[in-house]
Amino acid sequence: MTKREIDSISGQETTGHEWDGIKELNHPLPSWWLYTFYASILVAVIYWVLMPAIPWFNGHSNGILGYSQRASLDHVMEAATAAQAQYIARIDQAPSLAAIRADADLFNFAQAGGRAVFNENCAACHGLGGSGRPGGFPTLADDDWIWGGTLDDIAQTVRHGIRNADPDSRQSVMPNFGTDSILTAPQIADVAEFVLSLSNRSTDTAAAGRGKTVFADNCAACHGDNGQGKPELGAPNLADAIWLYGDGSKLAIMAQVTKPKMGVMPAWGGRLSEAQQRMVTVYVHSLSGGQ
Ligand code: HEC
Ligand code: HEC
Repeated sequence: MTKREIDSISGQETTGHEWDGIKELNHPLPSWWLYTFYASILVAVIYWVLMPAIPWFNGHSNGILGYSQRASLDHVMEAATAAQAQYIARIDQAPSLAAIRADADLFNFAQAGGRAVFNENCAACHGLGGSGRPGGFPTLADDDWIWGGTLDDIAQTVRHGIRNADPDSRQSVMPNFGTDSILTAPQIADVAEFVLSLSNRSTDTAAAGRGKTVFADNCAACHGDNGQGKPELGAPNLADAIWLYGDGSKLAIMAQVTKPKMGVMPAWGGRLSEAQQRMVTVYVHSLSGGQ
């Protein structure tokens, strides 16, 4: 090293380098910065030694602690699966759906599991959260049930489905009153007017009066005398403002009476495990507050 040289103008030390008579002032790094830098190198070296770090042609250094994120994830997953298996076994063994509903711990698990099953298998038709879809896919989050809303009713609907090839599926077919000429066009208009009157929307009392007789003769057997519906026949309530098909307008009602649409739902008995069916049933039941 050359001996220290002080710049006469600024009074600062120079580096001793000189270009055409110009000298560079020496600004050493602040020591706090330098020591932090050395410390971080030290930490890096310790980290390389302990943890997996340095890439190599066929992998990387493993570090003397032998830590692996994948292994620790596997560990967490194993623990979670074991915890789930316990719950699934309890759900399988519960004497009834009501017993699952009554056990707060099991109910919580069933609801979370049921929501997952629902989102994967049911939401495509019934909407997220059972909000329903237009065109015959009923809302499951209200207290209006076509086939009954008790835990056991819902379990039956889920297991066997509706109007499918399962021998125990829910059946019932509304006649084609129009296309099979059971009723005339004026009778269909009258009975539609009467159905409107059930939710206080009729504007033609004379027609509704004539429709009342048509209804009593042709519809009441399934839909009930006052159109309140019969869950054992899957005949929906016509007196509420909830409609499977269309908007409940006179035209929509006439279309249904002329040539009814019949909703079909697959059976889930063969597709979902026993525990999955129980969980999704408990979940659907809880969406509406449950009957
Ligand atoms: C392919 C479409 C489709 C899928 C998928 C589907 N459903 Fe349905 N579901 C329907 C239709 C359509 C109806 C109404 C049938 C009718 O008109 O009676 C229905 C009716 C129901 C009912 C009876 C509602 C009531 O008011 O009584 C329940 C409960 C139900 N579904 C639950 C489920 C559950 C739980 C799943 C998933 C495991 C599921 N559904 C998957 C189409 C579907
Ligand atoms: C054999 C039983 C049966 C008879 C008789 C019957 N229905 Fe129905 N009706 C049903 C069923 C079952 C459904 C539900 C269809 C579905 O779930 O897809 C239904 C659905 C309806 C709907 C659609 C409801 C909605 O929410 O969109 C209307 C409207 C209706 N019926 C009116 C009538 C009228 C009016 C008559 C008499 C002229 C009649 N039904 C006779 C069984 C019947």
